[in-house]
Amino acid sequence: MHNGKARAFTNIALIKYWGKKDQQLILPMNNSLSLTLDAFYTETSVSFSKDYSHDTFYLDDQLQNEKATQKISHFLDLARKQAGVFEHAIVRSQNFVPTAAGLASSASGLAALAGACNVALGLNLTTKNLSRLARRGSGSACRSVYGGFVEWEKGNSDQTSYASPVASHHWEDDLAMIFILINDKTKDVSSRNGMQRTVDTSLYYNDWLKAANIDIEKARTAIANQDFQALGEVTEANCLKMHATTLAANPPFTYWTPDSLKAMNKVQAMRQAGQNCYFTMDAGPNVKILCQKKDSETIYRELQKDFPSHQLIMAHAGKGIETLEMEVAK
Ligand code: DP6
Repeated sequence: MHNGKARAFTNIALIKYWGKKDQQLILPMNNSLSLTLDAFYTETSVSFSKDYSHDTFYLDDQLQNEKATQKISHFLDLARKQAGVFEHAIVRSQNFVPTAAGLASSASGLAALAGACNVALGLNLTTKNLSRLARRGSGSACRSVYGGFVEWEKGNSDQTSYASPVASHHWEDDLAMIFILINDKTKDVSSRNGMQRTVDTSLYYNDWLKAANIDIEKARTAIANQDFQALGEVTEANCLKMHATTLAANPPFTYWTPDSLKAMNKVQAMRQAGQNCYFTMDAGPNVKILCQKKDSETIYRELQKDFPSHQLIMAHAGKGIETLEMEVAK
């Protein structure tokens, strides 16, 4: 029996990863830059044993169906191949989110699984190589290996595509991100399918890539100068450009709902009223607001006027991946 357990925190991209140049290796079209957060994380344990005849996957204590298990098995195969161990496994994953709002994240989930496999199979990976392995599970997971600001260098091969921390002199500790959870009744387009459809069909995709390359420079400079306004402006603008590509895809789609627009309008109105805050959104309707810690309570109270408290979650900068002690195996 080979056991391992790890905890990984989720991350939110300020400059988005949106599109792959290699779907098999998960090599992105552009560099992305994120902030790892403390409010959402996943703990995953894995046990490999020659006694198991197939892979089994429990998420939040629920046995998962074949489709969900297949994605995990595919990832386990990569780790097994690296280790030269060909035993099946039981994977137990627990998502820790402040409310049961369906905020499960593939970034923290796949990073935690990569960390657990690293321990269980004695891979002894460097953080860089752990980031590469996590990338193969889900692109954004490669950034959750590190805390604080993280940049994923797109690279052009399995070896050269991985995340690294962005030097910031702990500036991230002065920042906060407030989540507005928005109910989604529309049919989901996963980030994986959405980004591929956009690469394949969106009229705006090339312009997105040009813009993303400029935006990442601006974000790096803003972090180096600890310039909150510059970082906020590029974060919001980059998100809007990413979402614009989906409208020009075929068939077109959007992750925005009426309540997402309400939240975006609210942020812009707060800014006009002198509050320093900016939004970003990913492949779903939730809106995340970047602000400075010193303003976060005021902004939170202002948001409470339009959104119930159970839809609001305050997050701060989080840590990188951690190895955990495994409970006694049954
Ligand atoms: C919009 O990492 O979930 O959140 O690599 O296909 O698993 P796969 O996609 P995923 O995509 C995240 C897209 C995003 C932007 C980002 O996190 O950079």
